[in-house]
Amino acid sequence: RPVNEAAAKPAILPDAQTVTSVQHWTDRLFSFRTTRPASLRFRSGEFVMIGLMGDPDPKTGKQKPILRAYSIASPSWDDELEFYSIKVQDGPLTSKLQHIQPGDQVILRPKPVGTLVHDALLPGDRLWFFATGTGLAPFASLIRDPETYERFDKVILTHTCRDVAELEYGRRLVDHVKSDEMMRELTDGGVDKLVYYPTTTREQSPKMGRITDLLTSGEAFRDLGVDGITPETDRAMVCGSMGLNTDMKTILEGFGLEEGANSDPKHYVVEKAFVG
Ligand code: A2P
Repeated sequence: RPVNEAAAKPAILPDAQTVTSVQHWTDRLFSFRTTRPASLRFRSGEFVMIGLMGDPDPKTGKQKPILRAYSIASPSWDDELEFYSIKVQDGPLTSKLQHIQPGDQVILRPKPVGTLVHDALLPGDRLWFFATGTGLAPFASLIRDPETYERFDKVILTHTCRDVAELEYGRRLVDHVKSDEMMRELTDGGVDKLVYYPTTTREQSPKMGRITDLLTSGEAFRDLGVDGITPETDRAMVCGSMGLNTDMKTILEGFGLEEGANSDPKHYVVEKAFVG
């Protein structure tokens, strides 16, 4: 039989997990759930490498995995894993990944890492989650983690997107977290501490503007009934575009907060959201 027939057969994926559901939110955004490796333990806020096999090399027929960092959006107590992704039409991975269906397999390297974890922050009164776009993903996990509400008296999730449709995944999740009886029991009513502050920049909505501008002008503090951000009381996690991360660093340092790490917990931590 022809030599290349074997190469044309679907490769058996290393570290394969099965897709259990897929939801498309906009033409740029989708989320999906997969089975969870029995041995996978992770801390809320961490990411893993996710991917698919690339096309066979035309000369050798060999296939290499295309892997990207994905924050785990599901809580650590969930039986399945959830991910929230952008779709980039010419993106090496997401141009393919956006077409996955339940029953398909994805590669999932079971080595969770990341800085958006409680261990990297000192204790405090108030915890801020600042997200843009798919940067919401690690916070989708953290707002479902009982530890978040054990550690803090108030938890503020801000999410800035271009338009209203891009807020929908986060909005539904916050609604669920606040109304679900199991979430209430799990967090001992802690979910009442969660405050959601969505903003849009390119479509009319009740709150317009980049979070960075809303903080700098003080508008966000007035809206939220908060005096401001101080290293004595406030902790923050930031996840979004390079621009957001850089600008938020400057703003938070301006308030006197210092950047923490797993080995050296301080007042805030930053991580780049998956792009492309
Ligand atoms: P803008 O529309 O003003 O660019 P994207 O979809 O391109 O990743 O952007 C997601 C959201 O993040 C958009 O609302 C965008 O606003 C906002 N954004 C981009 N850069 C920054 C930044 N440096 N600081 C705050 N928000 C930002």
